[in-house]
Amino acid sequence: MEKIAFITGITGQDGSYLSELLLSKQEYKYIFGIIRRSSKFDSSSRIDHLTSNPRFILKYGDVTDSYSIINILKHISTLKTDDTVLEIYHLAAQSHVQISFEIPEYTGQVDAVGTLKILEAVRICGMIKNTRIYNATTSELYGKVVESPQTENTPFYPRSPYGVAKLYSYWIAKNYREAYDMFVCNGILFNHTSPRRGENFILRKITLGISKIYKGTETKLVLGNLDSQRDLGHAKDYVYGMWLMLQQDAPDDFVLSTGKMYKIRHLVEKAFKHINIDIVWEGSGLDEVGVDKKTGRVLVTIDKKYFRPAEVDELLGDCTKAKTILKWHHHYEIDDIIKEMMDFDCKN
Ligand code: NAP
Ligand code: GDD
Repeated sequence: MEKIAFITGITGQDGSYLSELLLSKQEYKYIFGIIRRSSKFDSSSRIDHLTSNPRFILKYGDVTDSYSIINILKHISTLKTDDTVLEIYHLAAQSHVQISFEIPEYTGQVDAVGTLKILEAVRICGMIKNTRIYNATTSELYGKVVESPQTENTPFYPRSPYGVAKLYSYWIAKNYREAYDMFVCNGILFNHTSPRRGENFILRKITLGISKIYKGTETKLVLGNLDSQRDLGHAKDYVYGMWLMLQQDAPDDFVLSTGKMYKIRHLVEKAFKHINIDIVWEGSGLDEVGVDKKTGRVLVTIDKKYFRPAEVDELLGDCTKAKTILKWHHHYEIDDIIKEMMDFDCKN
């Protein structure tokens, strides 16, 4: 069966791994993606190695600009037959939770209304038939969790402008599925990371910071809340789950998670072990420090600027539904992920 894919957020962590996955499958005639204009060319560094492939096509676009989305869909419709399946992976988002408190309106326009624009564009272009849409929602929907672990049936309680915007995204996708019989799946994905993770998300900040201490270009790591807990997987496993959702006979919503959660302080300890440093914690609150057990050198300090106005204390997923229906399971454990990220950051 011939397929065409269209990825929003193609320059991001997940977009880059997903592009590699789809390019490896010959049934995808083209993989389209939108990139945003940037004052520097390096904003596409995660996918630069793919751009020479003639099946990989990038267009300027923005999910806050309906015309750019409609134009791409119109262009795609000229390349497909009635039987070609179009898979849209809607990954574009202002994805940083803390930053969403600083740019709440913009976060709403991209993460909430952006999803509506994608759905409406498909409808207006008359492309509902044979189009399948993956919508990137998040475990941040659970926020101040009301039960643990969280499943597809756990009530939502978002704790940030990002979480609230994704709540709209989740419901508008479900609404279009019910109202217009659209094939739309919500992926409720727990945190996932990799060496391609943005540098201001926690585990990447930790591995990058430690690699700089290792190389002697930084002296310490400055962090926020060390006691929140996250269920952390590898982005490669999670993009495969996105793909599986769109290969089912009927659209549905799925949690993807590892079922294990770790405190941030334990991630710090695990990552430091890769450069043979044992961290011990001294003091409390904003005065707490992480100290090299052998030398007594202070390597981790706390700054209140990294604390959020409202925190999500813990997230732990139960992905039994994905395991049963999609036959999805994660391959990477936390120690594999930290090793890959530490090796990458220490080398580069
Ligand atoms: P990411 O690395 O931050 O990538 C976000 C992507 O969205 C980038 O390509 C970015 O483009 C693009 N983007 C942002 N605003 C846009 C706009 N207005 N128009 C078009 N594109 C725009 O995020 P990720 O980790 O790959 O996550 C992918 C999706 O999954 C996001 O929707 C995120 O909220 C969601 N999610 C992520 C996780 C996770 O742990 N990684 C978990 C659950 C859900 P630029 O490169 O130009 O900035
Ligand atoms: N970013 C960051 N920087 N987080 C810190 C820091 C710091 O210096 N210090 C402590 N933390 C804590 C945060 O307070 C939070 O509790 C936790 O580390 C994880 O923060 P992030 O890595 O920024 O990720 P997130 O969990 O808020 O959001 C990510 O996962 C969501 C899925 O649950 C993002 O990828 C979202 O886009 C995604 O939806």
